Amino acid sequence: MEDAIVMKNVCKDFKILNRHEGLKGSIRDLFSRDYKTISAVKDVTLTIGKGEIIGYLGPNGAGKSTTIKMMTGVLEPTSGEILVNGVVPYKERTKNSEHIGVVFGQRSQLWWSLPLIESFKLLRDIYMVPKKDYEDMLKLYRSLVDIEPILHKPVRQMSLGQRTLSDILAAFLHNPAIVFLDEPTIGLDVSMKSKIRDLIKGLNQEKGTTVILTTHDMGDVDALCKRIVIIDEGKKIYDNDIEHLKSYFGSYRTLRMRLSDDTWEERVIDETKEDVMEVIMKKQKEQKIKDIQLQEISTEEVIKKIYEGSSAAKPQEAQNASEANPGTEETSAGAAANEGKGEA
Ligand SMILES: Nc1ncnc2c1ncn2[C@@H]1O[C@H](COP(=O)(O)OP(=O)(O)OP(=O)(O)O)[C@@H](O)[C@H]1O
Ligand SMILES: [Mg+2]
Repeated sequence: MEDAIVMKNVCKDFKILNRHEGLKGSIRDLFSRDYKTISAVKDVTLTIGKGEIIGYLGPNGAGKSTTIKMMTGVLEPTSGEILVNGVVPYKERTKNSEHIGVVFGQRSQLWWSLPLIESFKLLRDIYMVPKKDYEDMLKLYRSLVDIEPILHKPVRQMSLGQRTLSDILAAFLHNPAIVFLDEPTIGLDVSMKSKIRDLIKGLNQEKGTTVILTTHDMGDVDALCKRIVIIDEGKKIYDNDIEHLKSYFGSYRTLRMRLSDDTWEERVIDETKEDVMEVIMKKQKEQKIKDIQLQEISTEEVIKKIYEGSSAAKPQEAQNASEANPGTEETSAGAAANEGKGEA
C-alpha cells in the first residue's frame, strides 16, 4: 500500500502568555515576557496508507485538531517531518490544498448565503474540476444520498445535519486524495449520524479516498474505521486494528434502564462476555423496568478501558499480543497504556 501521510517524530508546542487578572494585570501582560509552553503534540510517528479510513481518537485537548491542522498546512510543526501526498503541507499550502478536503464539524466552510449548488459551482471553478468529473460526482452524490432537498437551499437556512452533509459533499467535490473530518457527527441525531456514516463509507469505497476522522463517538469508529490511532496528552498511545482492540477489551455498550421509581440505572456491558437481553431479564426479575436505552460508548470510555486494561493485563501478555499482530508499532493496548501512564 502506498503512503498517503507520513509523520515522523512530529511535535507541536504552543507558547502562551501567562495572563494576570484585572486592569493592572492586563497592562502588565502587554509588556510581559512571562510565557509558558504547552506541548500539544509530542513525538508522533504515523504512517497512513492510501484509501484507509483511520479513526484518530483521544480525549478533549489530546492534540487531535492540532495534528490535523499540521497535516492540512494551517500549522507548522515545532519539530519533525510531515508529508501529505508527497507534499510538505505548511511549505506548499496551495499545492497541498489541491489534494485534500477538510470538514471541521463545528463550523461550515461554505458560502453562508449561497444555495448549495452555487457553492458547488464556485468550488468546481476554484479547483478547476473538469465538467465531466463534476457531473459524475453529482451523479455519485445522488446515488448515495438524497441531495435534492438541500441543493437549492442557502447554507444559513439549513439544519445542522443538512449543513454537515453539505460540508462533506463540498469537501469531496474536487475528488481529493485525502479528506480530513474533524468531528463531523458532533451534535447530530442518530438517523443523521447514520446517513453521514453511509455517505463517508460510500465515497471512500467509490473514490478510494483516504479519510482521517476524529470523533468522540465510538459508533462512528465502529461503522467506518478498520484502524484506530489514539493520542492522549499529545502522545500516541495506541495504533492498531479496531478488531484487535475488541478482541482484547471486548465490545462495549452502555445499557440504561429506567426503574419503577423513575431513576435510571446505567451499566457498561461487554457484549463478548454478557448478553444484553440476559442482563435486562435478570434485572426485570428483581424490579420492574419501565424503559431501556442502549448507547454506544464514547471513545473516552474505550480509552479508560485501555488504561484499566494495562493494570489488569500482564505486560508480557500485552507484549505477545502485539507481536502476534504485524503492523503494530509499540502498541498492544496494555503495553501502550503502560507507556502512556506508567509514571502516573
Ligand atoms: N492556537 C493555540 N494556542 C495555544 N494552545 C493551543 C492552541 N490550539 C490548541 N492548543 C492547546 O493544545 C492542546 C491540544 O488541543 P487540540 O485542539 O489539538 O485538542 P483536541 O484533541 O482536538 O481536543 P477536542 O477533542 O476538545 O477537540 C490543548 O491543550 C489546547 O489548549
Ligand atoms: Mg479538536
